[in-house]
Amino acid sequence: MASSPLGRPTRGTTGTNRLRRNDRWIAASEAFRRAADPLVIDLGYGASGVTAFELATRLRHVRTDAEVRGLEIDPARVATADAQLAEVRAGRTSFAPDLRVSFARGGFEIPLPAGRRPAVIRAMNVLRQYEERDVPGAWRTMAARLAPRGLLVEGTCDEIGRVASWVDVLPDGTPSRFTISLRLAELEQPSIVAERLPKALIHRNVPGERVHVLLTDLDREWARAAPLSTFGATQRFLAAVAALRAQGWPVQGGRSRWRLGELTLPWEAVAPLG
Ligand SMILES: C[S@@+](CC[C@H](N)C(=O)[O-])C[C@H]1O[C@@H](n2cnc3c(N)ncnc32)[C@H](O)[C@@H]1O
Repeated sequence: MASSPLGRPTRGTTGTNRLRRNDRWIAASEAFRRAADPLVIDLGYGASGVTAFELATRLRHVRTDAEVRGLEIDPARVATADAQLAEVRAGRTSFAPDLRVSFARGGFEIPLPAGRRPAVIRAMNVLRQYEERDVPGAWRTMAARLAPRGLLVEGTCDEIGRVASWVDVLPDGTPSRFTISLRLAELEQPSIVAERLPKALIHRNVPGERVHVLLTDLDREWARAAPLSTFGATQRFLAAVAALRAQGWPVQGGRSRWRLGELTLPWEAVAPLG
């Protein structure tokens, strides 16, 4: 299996702190917090192992037994990450030398030793370069490897991690929730996320599709809440989210999540119609 990983190598763009919003989501997830084995996969970590080191660092603040395994389909990128790991172990980086991180070659089939099953699989900016029709199969293949109450988080963000969105997928491969996560300071319009939607939605931001209605409504409420900017962008976003709820959007989470610039809805609220 390891000799023919499922998928294909794509551009390896990554960067320091790019996935911090997504790390925070995983750290708060029940799938991670309650896992019998808190193993988290960073699938398609890219040209550097930095997102795996950061994820492991953030997760161990929540659970000291958290473990991250970076998987990459491109063997040269595994060699690069292993060389970085040697630097970490030698104490020559800002990461803890005993960080529970490892790297290996692998694709959507998520190879793991001794039949271990991950609590969480994170695949950020991986499916972006695939076709929309590839998404359901990739979700099913990855999700089938999860522990029983595990979680697949698949999505997209910009290069510096200010604009992100992702889908939570259940072990049976069905999508359950959709989240956008935005840095609120200096945010002009929430619909900036249209450029960074997960592959399953990025071609669906067109009139008549639900995700388009959502982003239109969110922009409108963000504009309407502009006077609250005097109290800060967070207050403005909270007001916009409250207005969306009042209109009947089934917004999930609570103020502690919305304050982070996060908005989560059930997948059915945005699922493509066609
Ligand atoms: C744009 S980089 C994303 C890096 C990192 N996840 C991030 O968000 O910063 C995408 C990486 O996914 C890898 N990739 C693509 N398909 C894959 C697959 N099926 N399994 C594992 N890695 C894959 C590519 O080789 C590439 O290095």
